[in-house]
Amino acid sequence: MKNIIVTGGAGFIGSNFVRYILKENQNVRIINVDKLTYAGNLENLKGLEENPRYVFEKVDICDKEEIKRVMKVYDVDTIINFAAESHVDRSIEDPTEFINTNIKGAQTLLDVAKKMWIIGEDKYKEGAKYIQVSTDEVYGSLEKDEECFTEKTPLNPHSPYSASKASADMLVKAYYDTYKFPVCITRCSNNYGPYQFPEKFIPLIMNNCLKHKSIPVYGDGSNIRDWLYVEDHCEAIYKVLLNGKLGEVYNIGGHNERTNIQIVKKIINYLHDNMDNTINEDLITYVKDRKGHDKRYGINPEQITKELDWTPKTQFEDGIVKTIKWYLENQEWLENIVNGEYEKYYNKMYKM
Ligand code: NAD
Ligand code: DAU
Repeated sequence: MKNIIVTGGAGFIGSNFVRYILKENQNVRIINVDKLTYAGNLENLKGLEENPRYVFEKVDICDKEEIKRVMKVYDVDTIINFAAESHVDRSIEDPTEFINTNIKGAQTLLDVAKKMWIIGEDKYKEGAKYIQVSTDEVYGSLEKDEECFTEKTPLNPHSPYSASKASADMLVKAYYDTYKFPVCITRCSNNYGPYQFPEKFIPLIMNNCLKHKSIPVYGDGSNIRDWLYVEDHCEAIYKVLLNGKLGEVYNIGGHNERTNIQIVKKIINYLHDNMDNTINEDLITYVKDRKGHDKRYGINPEQITKELDWTPKTQFEDGIVKTIKWYLENQEWLENIVNGEYEKYYNKMYKM
């Protein structure tokens, strides 16, 4: 039995990953280490409480003593670090927590694991592995006709969020280069799917449509993101866990670049045609652009395809419909979030 710490397992991608791996592999025990910030939600893991191969530990990844305790108690041999402050707009408001969790938190995990897994000079416990879940945002922004990001693209982050993620990536690489500590880094494009916190674009559009509220589109809506269905991201990380080469970076992307305005119109039109014909494009409101707004992200995932035989399985047209339906069927989940602190956040960010 492998004992795997998944940090940030109560967040969007983390919770999808916990469900994915428990189903995929009967030989793992998952220890979900999550501080439960505003973005952490145990509702995302409903139904797993009785699973003997799942444990929850409410722990901050910056807390060295607690990380040591958890690693010892569960005899951990793998860490997959999803925990992060993940929202670009919040990082522009105040980067402090991004530096703490995304950089110091990662360094704490690396340091504790290095000390607990070492068995000789540059030698670590059999099967030990640390995976840093990073982002395509570390590469910066592409022009319209530029080639997609490869693993060799130089790091050029622009927001405090992406700068903190790039810093963590550099630390992870440094642990490999200096100590031969067994690491892999994954860099994925924008995810969409169930359980995403509605500060992010797609669930925010869903929430506003359901309430007939205007949909804030930054700038002229022409910024481009490369959207990947979250389950495909989970599968890619699982493949990196099983067979990813130590010291390697793997780009993960959906071959699916869309402008923001295309995304908004897609969702509005689906809801208009299938649910409520009063939901229409009049809801679209162009607002002040995000500061330093990256123009375009696009991932070249050739390396993970060649080395680990991964390709995205979900076509955007299917994934977006599945996602819309999930939010429609889980409006109670959405309401529990937007009825809390979220409203204050929304009013402050969008000055409504
Ligand atoms: P999220 O904000 O939904 O979840 C983050 C989780 O981390 C929450 O459960 C939160 O409680 C937890 N957390 C935050 N600080 C913590 C701390 N100090 N200690 C322990 N737990 C803490 O994020 P997400 O969208 O699921 O992203 C997960 C990871 O994937 C992040 O590292 C992010 O950078 C990366 N990523 C996200 C996307 C995307 O499109 N969402 C794409 C590429 C990479
Ligand atoms: O590329 C991977 C990254 O994708 C992850 O590393 C981040 O954690 C994740 O949050 C996401 O970052 P983005 O900034 O691309 O995602 P967001 O959902 O915030 O915005 C998507 C696009 O939509 C972006 O161009 C900004 C725009 N947008 C967003 C919001 C919230 C709007 O036009 N209006 C909005 O209200």
